[in-house]
Amino acid sequence: MPEISKKGKHLPESPIRKLVSFADAAKVKGIHVHHLNIGQPDIHAPIEAMNVVTNSSLQLLPYGSSEGSLNYRKALTNYYLAHDISIRPEEIIVTTGASEALAFTLNSICDADDEIIIPEPFYANYNGFATASGVKVIPVESNIENGFALPPVSAFEAAITPKTKGIMICNPGNPTGYLYSKEELNQLKAIVLKHDLFLIADEVYREFTYDGAEHYSILGIEGLEEHAIVVDSFSKRYSMCGARIGCLVSKNRHFMATAMKFAQARLSPPTYAQIASEAALKTPQSYFDTVNTEYVERRNVLVDGLNSIDGVFCPKPKGAFYAVAAFPVESAEHFAEWLLSEFDHNGKTLMMAPAAGFYAKPELGRQQARLAYVLNVEDLKECIEIVRHALQVYPGTIK
Ligand SMILES: Cc1ncc(COP(=O)(O)O)c(C=O)c1O
Repeated sequence: MPEISKKGKHLPESPIRKLVSFADAAKVKGIHVHHLNIGQPDIHAPIEAMNVVTNSSLQLLPYGSSEGSLNYRKALTNYYLAHDISIRPEEIIVTTGASEALAFTLNSICDADDEIIIPEPFYANYNGFATASGVKVIPVESNIENGFALPPVSAFEAAITPKTKGIMICNPGNPTGYLYSKEELNQLKAIVLKHDLFLIADEVYREFTYDGAEHYSILGIEGLEEHAIVVDSFSKRYSMCGARIGCLVSKNRHFMATAMKFAQARLSPPTYAQIASEAALKTPQSYFDTVNTEYVERRNVLVDGLNSIDGVFCPKPKGAFYAVAAFPVESAEHFAEWLLSEFDHNGKTLMMAPAAGFYAKPELGRQQARLAYVLNVEDLKECIEIVRHALQVYPGTIK
């Protein structure tokens, strides 16, 4: 049989979807599975975006320009301006989700065996995109004890080698929900300027910040113009995951010209979805206020509920819609599997994402799992009771 590639073989399995077969088997047995494993919000997309799709009289769906429609990019500059970020249309390339923006970024700044430093735990697909591009991820460890704050500067300094091309962060973080402060971003600024590295920020959860905490974009940090690359997306912001629209934003002209060649190779981003996304930009602030109020309530129910269970610890995140919790078990993966295959509480169980898959170092995060609070409050309350009862009877619970 012909051989498949080594990088294909080494591509890590998704920690989010890993347990799907167990969930499917539970459903066949008639058990209801609450899905806390995946960041698919149940919130409705803005009516403005849906209407434009429903009412469209388009007869033809042509290729668009590789960098994305000018109208849409102009509209995006106004969106960024509303976030105090001054961007020109030519500093934006529209992509097929943040996923494609990530792939373009790594391919534009790295050659095979180059290194990108990322605080771990991190969005697991960073590993996938890096592996596909032949790039090595160098993790620096953040800790659940301080809610996954930025690791110390010394840890980044120790990780830098002649092959390091950049530092990548996710802000607010998936899976941690951690929101970096201005001071933390300035620490990163000092490191990337000192070592002349790129700073890549995945800011797809920019709007999801809670308790009055503010999100700072690296695009707003003076002095980083040649270093900052932002990966952005409409998937979560407008609950439009299926539109597959994101973008790449940078003031570095050489980087943008290079990324543009990758954009040209894939012809163009989705035509229809750009129209919907442009309409979504008209969404009033009240939409986000309502959505964020809902997420704060969900977060509080989930995090406070988890912390009320003996032996469970879950820091309260200030952003995104994920939380990482530590459970009193040896292996959160085994516990997650057991929840699906051996346990139910009143005919219901839950699926969570074992956090080990979000760490690059195999020894880390084994007791942790990520829970996405993308379900309504009543369902989340049920999930807490399921975990509480499960830990009382799970054979691996550390008492
Ligand atoms: C941190 C982060 N970056 C990027 C993505 C990919 O987003 P998109 O749907 O825009 O490709 C996700 C999706 O969950 C994510 O959580």
